[in-house]
Amino acid sequence: MTALDGRIALITGGSSGIGLATARRLTREGARTVIADIQPPPEGAGELYLDVDVGDATAWEAAVRLIEERLGGLDVVHLNAGVALNVADPAQLSVEQYRHIMRVNVDGVFLGIRAVLPALERRGGGAIVATASLAGLTAFAIDPVYTASKHAVVGLVRSLAPVLEPRRITINAVCPGIVETPLVGEGVANLRAAGFPLLQPDEVADVVMLALNSGRTGSCWAVQPGREPVDFHFGRVPGPRTPGAEGMAPPLAAMMGSVRVDTD
Ligand SMILES: NC(=O)c1ccc[n+]([C@@H]2O[C@H](COP(=O)([O-])OP(=O)(O)OC[C@H]3O[C@@H](n4cnc5c(N)ncnc54)[C@H](O)[C@@H]3O)[C@@H](O)[C@H]2O)c1
Repeated sequence: MTALDGRIALITGGSSGIGLATARRLTREGARTVIADIQPPPEGAGELYLDVDVGDATAWEAAVRLIEERLGGLDVVHLNAGVALNVADPAQLSVEQYRHIMRVNVDGVFLGIRAVLPALERRGGGAIVATASLAGLTAFAIDPVYTASKHAVVGLVRSLAPVLEPRRITINAVCPGIVETPLVGEGVANLRAAGFPLLQPDEVADVVMLALNSGRTGSCWAVQPGREPVDFHFGRVPGPRTPGAEGMAPPLAAMMGSVRVDTD
């Protein structure tokens, strides 16, 4: 029996790649898995499939209601659905393309968190893991808009962690390097030809499990081939040097109790 035995888990983008690997892994760990995606999963993956566009707030509300009705609650959420563009030049991108990537990658995570929180609280707490990317931790000139969307996910996860902690809800991110999935498309062959090591979806699913079970919150787990996952360390931002207020953090942080803003 594992900590996930009998837990009810929702995975967005669970019909392919990293989400599918996570759904299968959670099922093996004894969880009851729900896949939310715009395309159905392969036969046998997940106990329940919901046709959900993660950028649609109304669809989110309906999905959470249905999961609670059918399965009795919700404990674990992997907000993983995402899209990439691989266009570097903003002039080559239509407004629709820009809005689409933001809608899926950022709205999809925010609306998901917003919709699942009451359900997790009704169970006395829970765990959320978002799939960000290494492009959420560093610049990635191949796809700047994707990079912006993943930085947004990292900022959201880190900022929400102390807000959700008193409600017994953990929130973490996994930040993989390049993973061999349909999202990378033809890039896989080129990267292979160049001898670049690629992650497999199962390796990322392992780190999702780590993020769920570590007991930590606000962590961003960097995942790269051939090494242990790294709980990425963010440096302190520069604090003020005004006499009498050297290194002072905004008083709002003190008012919020557990919220810390590290400055030097
Ligand atoms: N593949 C990589 O190299 C890589 C690296 C770092 C992070 N990621 C991230 O991992 C996550 C999963 O990507 P993947 O590589 O497994 O890709 P994938 O294309 O194999 O899977 C993505 C899934 O998301 C679903 N999806 C797309 N738009 C959706 C929407 N509006 N609503 C619901 N579902 C939607 C797709 O149908 C698909 O099943 C993404 O957030 C991606 O940005 C991928």
